[in-house]
Amino acid sequence: MTAPIVRSLPELRAMTKAWHMAGETIGVVPTMGALHDGHLSLVAAAKSRADRVIVTIFVNPKQFNNPEDLANYPRTEHEDARKLERFAVDAIYVPDGDTMYPQGFSTTVSVDGLTDVLCGAHRPGHFDGVATVVTKLFTQTSADLAFFGEKDFQQLQVVRRLARDLDLGVEVVGCPTIREIDGLAMSSRNLLLSDRARVKAPIMHEVMEGIAEALGRGEAMSDLYPAAEKRLMNADFLSIDYLELRACDDLSLLDRPTRPARLFAAAHLAGVRLIDNIDVPLLS
Ligand code: PAF
Repeated sequence: MTAPIVRSLPELRAMTKAWHMAGETIGVVPTMGALHDGHLSLVAAAKSRADRVIVTIFVNPKQFNNPEDLANYPRTEHEDARKLERFAVDAIYVPDGDTMYPQGFSTTVSVDGLTDVLCGAHRPGHFDGVATVVTKLFTQTSADLAFFGEKDFQQLQVVRRLARDLDLGVEVVGCPTIREIDGLAMSSRNLLLSDRARVKAPIMHEVMEGIAEALGRGEAMSDLYPAAEKRLMNADFLSIDYLELRACDDLSLLDRPTRPARLFAAAHLAGVRLIDNIDVPLLS
């Protein structure tokens, strides 16, 4: 069933008001389009938890710190709507730039601390852009629940924090990363990989799995890093933004998983920035 594509805020508000008046809950899946099975797993989770489901598609200029990256970001609205047909979502919200950021827009939502590290340290302004647009999407859609992938774990923690700090009344639900058969985390950016780079891309996840196993045996991240870096460089990864063990809750840096932790990586392969993170066994 083709879901209605809603482009205007008054139209969206009329729908969500009617749903809330009928006592129905609204689940939102915010996306930038170029939908893959990772996004579709979020839609399935939303369908199982909420009475009404809205998928939002907006390529948010405020979270790109590189104009070329923004220009190259895949835009596949028609194909996205087709992929959503089997889920019978209630609306696909596709606002334009003026609806999101009208003339004179001058408010930024900024989450301190959590955004100083990992992608926040390498992409200045990125999380302000994410936090601002997500806050707007939550209020525009009157969301009760919102679904985000653990693939962007730092983003998930930032969104949880802002929803709590700003009393937005939205339950933020984290969903597991969906991977290709060779371990590569699904991402819209994978479409930008050349055939050659696509073959090399899963090596990052392979390296991470090796580190997680060694950490589970009691080895230290600082001892494991040099060999992991070498392996990535040998596999044509040009630069590593980070390969770090961090605590799940406040993202503080760890050398051993002495509290619930994840291993985070971001590296550049043939002009594409790949990110991933995995769970690490807790040392008893
Ligand atoms: O994860 C994404 O696709 C984006 O960062 C989001 C959450 C849709 C905000 O633009």
